[in-house]
Amino acid sequence: MATYDENNFLTSAEGAPIGDNQHSLTAGENGPVLLQDYHLLEKLAHFSRERIPERVVHAKGAGAFGTFTLTHDMSEYTKADIFNRQGKETEMFARFSTVAGESGSSDTARDPRGFALKFYTNEGNYDIVGLSFPVFFIRDAKKFPDFIHTQKRNPQTHLHSDRAKWDFWSLSPESLHMITMLFGDRGIPATYRNMNGFGTHTFMWVNADGKRSWIKYHFKPKDGVKSLMSDLAQKLDGENPDSATQDLFNSIESGNYPEWTMYVQIIPFEEGWNYKQNIFDVTRTVSHKDYPLIEVGKFTLNQNPRNYFADVEEATFSPANLVPGIEASPDKMLQGRLFSYADAHRYRVGANSAHIPVNAPKTPVHNYQVDGVMGVNEHQSQINYEPNSFDGQKEKPAAKERGYEVEGEIGHYVTYDDDFYSQPRALYNLISDDERERLIKNIADSLGNVKEDEIKRRQVINFYKVDPDYGQRVAKAIGLEIDFDKI
Ligand code: HEM
Repeated sequence: MATYDENNFLTSAEGAPIGDNQHSLTAGENGPVLLQDYHLLEKLAHFSRERIPERVVHAKGAGAFGTFTLTHDMSEYTKADIFNRQGKETEMFARFSTVAGESGSSDTARDPRGFALKFYTNEGNYDIVGLSFPVFFIRDAKKFPDFIHTQKRNPQTHLHSDRAKWDFWSLSPESLHMITMLFGDRGIPATYRNMNGFGTHTFMWVNADGKRSWIKYHFKPKDGVKSLMSDLAQKLDGENPDSATQDLFNSIESGNYPEWTMYVQIIPFEEGWNYKQNIFDVTRTVSHKDYPLIEVGKFTLNQNPRNYFADVEEATFSPANLVPGIEASPDKMLQGRLFSYADAHRYRVGANSAHIPVNAPKTPVHNYQVDGVMGVNEHQSQINYEPNSFDGQKEKPAAKERGYEVEGEIGHYVTYDDDFYSQPRALYNLISDDERERLIKNIADSLGNVKEDEIKRRQVINFYKVDPDYGQRVAKAIGLEIDFDKI
């Protein structure tokens, strides 16, 4: 039973005690409410400002704090402090999400899962903003807004549109690899604890001697990979659309801490340029036989957010949050992302989003960027310009990017080859016939909703080029007649 404690009182935002939180101030018992009821005004005004714009993608998510432990010293490949000295522990924050749905949408959608990690390293924050899949649908940032429009709601009906999805995909055959993963058994992770994570792109590691390597991140969950089949996912969608959010929170609350092991594939620098396929094409995986997984460390999530809004909604991850020893590759998707995230944060959270505790590095911040909305300017001295003659902070030459050689003329190049088929073909042939059956059914449940035969035909032909069996079975499942001999 709650008891009255005169020292435990409500205050205004300015800290003044509130005398009445239940009854508006009126002129007489039946008179109108007074403008001088500033507590009422503050409550109503703050209430209508409670929402910030939701993330334009990955709006529905859950997050937690944890610790990354380096189990293998990586100084041979990178000078990044987080990956040097076996046993080093680094605090971190993780956020998992679906991609296309709004912030109230279902956790059991057939959708890639976001796998975003922020490491508070001794050299500033390092973010890996990855996915539950090792590849993506498209491979040039210029196509991303159009692609996302097809995943979001139709501008007239405000409904999701299978027509838009398959129209775009059928005209973008580079998506076949990702589609085959998405509609297969791993398309709906059972919980956030039961999915793999990938950095997806290729990144560059640089060691203290300037030696460069290309690397790809992989994360495997301690609790194993488990997925939902479509019927169970639909049932859960109706019963508990927040099932993954709830599972993550409850697991951590009960001391069953989710854990992942981090691995990298390491591709020697020169070999990477000359490999049999372009290693910067994000629609392709790189053979584990050629470049096996090497263990790096483990991370454990052991602390729930103290406040969802402050820690999860206002969290800002960016692939551009890099530290010395880790650099961007020329991957054309990654290059676009280096701009897009901080730009989204400035719009969604504000120019000073890095001042918010979940985003703030644990290391001191020294720069000459000043003021702005919500700026707290904690780090700022009287000297707010550079160069100066008063011992202000200067750049650290050792932190300069190593980079790589480029040549050629400016142009809109078709850099990556048009073998859209051999990797999805290998995947199609790897899975069991039962899974193939479910893959076909999942595709048919969506592609079958498209009215236009032209779109269906184009997509079926794409599947046929992956494997004749794939195309023929999808055609049969959606009742489309095609003369495959004429293809
Ligand atoms: C979120 C852009 C591709 C993973 C976002 C956000 C934007 C964005 C604007 C919202 C950021 C925010 O408001 O905080 C793009 C662009 C892409 C792209 C322009 C392609 C050029 C990818 C790829 C991956 C990915 C390939 C994974 C490999 C994520 C994740 C989030 C996210 C995990 C959620 C981060 C969080 O939890 O806050 N993306 N994205 N995106 N994106 Fe991308």
